[in-house]
Amino acid sequence: MKKGTFTLTMIKPVAVKEHHVGDILSHIEHAGFRIIALKMTQMPKEKAEVFYEEHKDKPFFNELVTFMKSGPVVAAILEKENAVADFRKLIGSTDPVEAEEGTIRKMFAKSKTHNAIHGSDSDENAMREAWFFFSEMEQFS
Ligand code: PPS
Repeated sequence: MKKGTFTLTMIKPVAVKEHHVGDILSHIEHAGFRIIALKMTQMPKEKAEVFYEEHKDKPFFNELVTFMKSGPVVAAILEKENAVADFRKLIGSTDPVEAEEGTIRKMFAKSKTHNAIHGSDSDENAMREAWFFFSEMEQFS
């Protein structure tokens, strides 16, 4: 995969539990992203801590890890030019109260913690996060 052409998303546990996976994936595809890897998986505590390690000193770290290990997530690699920035625009602000109308978080997030979906925040993290979830045999670029 060429850096800058993809991002990593996770549909978070509450959105999976509340049956929003199909609607969210449909929204993503209609926005022009191509799904090139996809799986449902549940992260043990240690894996969630590694995934979010850059936030380990933040006050919300334990709450975030506890939430993310609480049930299955749906992880996907999404291909598109300018994927990281375009996808963060599509999902909206971290806090759904601040998210714009029409964004995925505005539609499906419940709170800053239970905010429905993750999107990589840089091309470097997209690369790290894609390889965190998917082996070469599972990536269809
Ligand atoms: S920061 O401080 O700007 O880097 O944080 P931010 O980018 O807003 O959020 C980073 C991830 O932490 C989650 N988050 C929280 N989780 C639990 N509780 C609180 N209060 C909270 N605030 C932020 C946020 O959803 C981000 O997760 P991802 O999976 O990257 O969306």
